[in-house]
Amino acid sequence: MTTATTYDVAAVRADFPALRAGAAHFDGPGGSQVPRQVAHAVAATLGSPIANRGSVTEAERTADAVVVAARAAVADLVGGDPGGVVFGRSMTQLTYDLSRALAAGWGPGDEVVVTRLDHDANVRPWVQAAAARGATVRWADLDPATGELTPEAVAAVLTDRTRLVAVTGASNLIGTRPDVPALTALAHEAGALAYVDGVHLTAHAAVDVAALGADLYACSPYKFLGPHLGCVVAAPALLETLHPDKLLPSTDAVPERFELGTLPYELLAGTTAAVDYLAALGGTDGDRRSRLVAGLAAVEAHEDRLRRRVEDAVGELPGVTLWSRARHRTPTLLLTWADRPAAEVSRALAARGVNAPAGSFYAIEASRRLGLGDTGGLRVGMAPYTDDSDVDRLLEGLRAVPEG
Ligand SMILES: Cc1ncc(COP(=O)(O)O)c(C=O)c1O
Repeated sequence: MTTATTYDVAAVRADFPALRAGAAHFDGPGGSQVPRQVAHAVAATLGSPIANRGSVTEAERTADAVVVAARAAVADLVGGDPGGVVFGRSMTQLTYDLSRALAAGWGPGDEVVVTRLDHDANVRPWVQAAAARGATVRWADLDPATGELTPEAVAAVLTDRTRLVAVTGASNLIGTRPDVPALTALAHEAGALAYVDGVHLTAHAAVDVAALGADLYACSPYKFLGPHLGCVVAAPALLETLHPDKLLPSTDAVPERFELGTLPYELLAGTTAAVDYLAALGGTDGDRRSRLVAGLAAVEAHEDRLRRRVEDAVGELPGVTLWSRARHRTPTLLLTWADRPAAEVSRALAARGVNAPAGSFYAIEASRRLGLGDTGGLRVGMAPYTDDSDVDRLLEGLRAVPEG
């Protein structure tokens, strides 16, 4: 079995055709590179007979099998129920759709809690859905000094009228991993549902939706080595209570009720391949769920070691501020320079073949709360394929930034 000490990053890198282009990729939080197994699954699906889901022709059965397999894969990845795995174009689209369906039962006096740590995709849909129903939005604050979103900050804005708490599993800007089980327990005590944005977290840690206390858990395969689409995982019984707008002839079954139009079968096959790839990092023993847990633990340990290397080196650089300070965090670092815009550093790194973008990455509330306005900083993210030579190149590039 792969363990933290045997994690074979060279073997992992050999699976990623994109790395042959030569760049050091620290841009994974925006979207990871893809192993050849995923690209192959997408191409193979498009190259085989495929029709709309059904049971009569082989082409129909293939489409059906692809969907069933992808639901099972995502359920294994996050410890959910395959019957509650909803696919859509992106997490943003699914969250908009679900916010409208959930808000159908809200009215004046009802309240929804959003946070200053979250990506806007887990903020604005709720703010706008609340506005449409005359409900009230309450903001759980981020502590700019520590980068933490504490249970106290969430407790402070909960009332017996709270209907939903929308919170992130991990910040895509500064990596903060809030104590999600504590936050969702507070939501549940108040009688509210918890909608957890797992887009950033799922790429970096073994997730168990039940342990997190997430009533609805959103993630995006393109962040965890898969293709570009989104998914939400919930208990089928909860989904049964929601009634999104849908076409008259389309099925009202759950989870299909939420999947408007024809699913992208090739991307679903790629998603299954991405999950299988992560599971293979956990060795060959046990079922896929236990291999996933082991594989993601190995990824986490690997990425964490590289994160500490970067953090230690950045601490020595004059005029650089590291904004990723939370006690528990993903390997995602946000840096700013006292004397120059982060975008300038990002361009200088890009010229050396080191990809680390600058911005606020749609975590606009967090960026503003940290005092970084809408500009944010330079984001450095580790991925399963990041190695020490990438980190060497990054650090060389950062040390080459001239003192102003
Ligand atoms: C934490 C987080 N939430 C939500 C999103 C939005 O995901 P999608 O692109 O699938 O809509 C992102 C994308 O960067 C993200 O990082």
